Amino acid sequence: MPVKNHRKAGSRTREKTTTKKKTAKATKTAKKPASAKATADKKVTADRPVVKRSGKAPQLLRGMKDTLPADEKYWDAIYGTIHRLAKSFGYGRIDTPILEETGLFVRSVGKDTDIVGKEMYSFQNPSGENISLRPEATASIARSYITHGMLNLPQPVKLWYWGPMFRHDRPQSGRYRQFYQFGFEALGEESPVVDAQLIVVVTDFFKELGLPITVQVNSLGTPESRQTYKTELVSYYRSRRGQLCDDCKKRLNKNPLRLLDCKEEGCQAIRNEAPQIVDWLDDASKNHFMKVLEALDEAEVPYVLNPFLVRGLDYYTRTVFEIWSEGDEDETRQIALGGGGRYDLLVEMLGGRPTPACGFAIGVERVINKLKAEEIAVPETPVPEIFFAQLGEQARIKSLSLFEDFRKAGIPLAEAFSKESLKAQLEIANKLKVKYALILGQKEVLDGTILIRDMEAGIQEIVDQKKIVREVQKKLGVPAQE
Ligand code: HAM
Repeated sequence: MPVKNHRKAGSRTREKTTTKKKTAKATKTAKKPASAKATADKKVTADRPVVKRSGKAPQLLRGMKDTLPADEKYWDAIYGTIHRLAKSFGYGRIDTPILEETGLFVRSVGKDTDIVGKEMYSFQNPSGENISLRPEATASIARSYITHGMLNLPQPVKLWYWGPMFRHDRPQSGRYRQFYQFGFEALGEESPVVDAQLIVVVTDFFKELGLPITVQVNSLGTPESRQTYKTELVSYYRSRRGQLCDDCKKRLNKNPLRLLDCKEEGCQAIRNEAPQIVDWLDDASKNHFMKVLEALDEAEVPYVLNPFLVRGLDYYTRTVFEIWSEGDEDETRQIALGGGGRYDLLVEMLGGRPTPACGFAIGVERVINKLKAEEIAVPETPVPEIFFAQLGEQARIKSLSLFEDFRKAGIPLAEAFSKESLKAQLEIANKLKVKYALILGQKEVLDGTILIRDMEAGIQEIVDQKKIVREVQKKLGVPAQE
């Protein structure tokens, strides 16, 4: 098949385009009556049905985002890293539904928390049940542990997950209404070593990605010791009520521990003098916390004690921790990369047997934002190095079996089946920056050959179709598969 230099091959098409442009201009200046214009707009080409447009193009919802292929390498790197860690630490994958009974989150995360009180997507389904899009996954996993009688499995039951969560929060950088989390949960084990091991997993994860982090830790004790502390805290804050921001005045009655989370400057100054929860821990919790820290020291995992770390979910007991990108700890925008802790009473609160448990979750988008901001390289997602160009119906049909041969050899091919001309196809190949183009025309289909074109040098060779995969492997330096 004679193959023209694709730059020259385009001259006819270019003429056509120019003529088209002229026609378009003539149409504009001719001032058709409105009805004639409408007819022209509705003109139907032989193979295209009429499209009735209704309204403006749909908009992306506020706080939601599309993830495009340009970010694929980040998602791949994060997923690959955590998947490997899950396997090596013995965690099994769990996927729970995105929709759960609203009551599950009210009872576990807590009705007075921001997450449940303000941010849940809750509604009635057609059967009249009150349901919510999950704002987090720990509650669902505790529910699933009960649903499937996991108590009867060897303990601890170690589970990991990856998926979208929904919170109708005020959108801002790093804060979305749909975001992805991955998390690890170990249920059925009280030992402080589990808390430390989960922190080791987190540390390993960020080390592998090359992102420096700080782990902040604290202990919240038991509900009883926390209650004594809360009373002390409320009395301290009451005496300074006049200096508090409006939100903190509300927190004083509703959720006093959250007073410690306020980022307002005035409230922070008051907080710095506030009583610290560690001084109110019961002996068993204090002992447990000391052992967590001892295990972290032993594993040489650095951490920072933060006596004011309380987390925004009600189910925590004893150890709590948060992961911050190094240098972000004092940020007032509250963009922790992840958080977790122990929730020894949650399974029982939801109707199961007493089951001590501990876990963490990391926000995927926040990790990606940080990797980009810090310009940390992640492995590139492989892109096709070969473009497949076809000319004519027979070649297009034949191409499917050739594609299959390349797929089996693990070599991805790019193509543009909708393009007829070789020029248009090679232009796309150029844009994709592939090294080689394979060209299959009618003649090649008949004599069982195919052309391989070096895109840089513009040189073409004729190859037997049966040998093309091996030939491409040689050119790309890929060893042949046995
Ligand atoms: P959390 O602190 O609410 O904890 O969320 C964990 C992480 O999810 C956050 O540190 C952040 O990276 C990400 N995240 C939260 N909200 C948003 C948002 N609006 N936009 C983007 N990312 C967000 C939990 O969810 C607990 N379930 C963690 C846990 C597991 N505790 C024990 N086990």
